[in-house]
Amino acid sequence: MWGKEIVAKERFPKRYRHPELDVTLRKHRTRGEARALAKCMEAGIPVPALLHCDLNTMTLYMRHIRGHTAKHVISGCEEREDTEGVMGICREMGTLIGRLHKSGLVHGDLTTSNFVKPSPEHYYAHTETERERETEGEGETEGEGETEGDVAMDADTPSPTADTHPCPLHVIDLGLASVSSQAEERAVDMYVLERALIATHKDSESMMDACVCAYRQVMGDKITDEVLKRYEKVRGRGRKKGEKVPGQ
Ligand SMILES: Nc1ncnc2c1ncn2[C@@H]1O[C@H](COP(=O)(O)OP(=O)(O)OP(=O)(O)O)[C@@H](O)[C@H]1O
Ligand SMILES: [Mg+2]
Repeated sequence: MWGKEIVAKERFPKRYRHPELDVTLRKHRTRGEARALAKCMEAGIPVPALLHCDLNTMTLYMRHIRGHTAKHVISGCEEREDTEGVMGICREMGTLIGRLHKSGLVHGDLTTSNFVKPSPEHYYAHTETERERETEGEGETEGEGETEGDVAMDADTPSPTADTHPCPLHVIDLGLASVSSQAEERAVDMYVLERALIATHKDSESMMDACVCAYRQVMGDKITDEVLKRYEKVRGRGRKKGEKVPGQ
């Protein structure tokens, strides 16, 4: 059952790093990821619920989301020539990035492997089970960790179904996340995503446009335009000029 499946993410030592620096870095990233997950949960942003953080072993314990990465989902859509499916996932990514940025965080490593789409059969089975447990009065959910994604059900709330509440895309891998509301860092997030789309997917330009449109809906025109302006500068540092700015 979904609620009982746990992912242990352990950061192993890297031999090529100086041992002291290695410990500092792993601790920094493990703690950073735990904090970012907690902040997202507070803001109702769909992330795997954080269960425990062990800084001795540099391990985070979080809920396993049964589903597929956005990369996998997009590749499946591409094979079926399901353009609307691809654009739908991109809009979800844009919305999620907007919500992340709005909450004062930047991700630091946005790729399509760092978004997970829960499978409806597991997602709804999970919410239904939570509801049953709560109705029976025995249910303790994993509590504070609940996010909008991991819906902690109120006994009077009808269970969501795929029709009423499509299971939301979750963002993962927040080890490089930081607190920032700077246009520069937001633009770098978008740029890293664009590079990942270009490297992995066909039609990356329309995909990026769909992301930016959805991002705009969350962040509004003023901030989005500031981020895009900065984005052109970031791009100018990274690659040739004259390329189209997404969403424009
Ligand atoms: N909570 C989760 N539920 C389901 N799958 C997960 C979860 N966390 C990680 N995964 C899967 O494991 C893969 C790797 O996880 P993650 O992206 O967090 O690690 P990483 O890329 O190795 O991290 P880092 O870049 O910090 O070393 C993800 O792309 C995803 O497929
Ligand atoms: Mg990753």
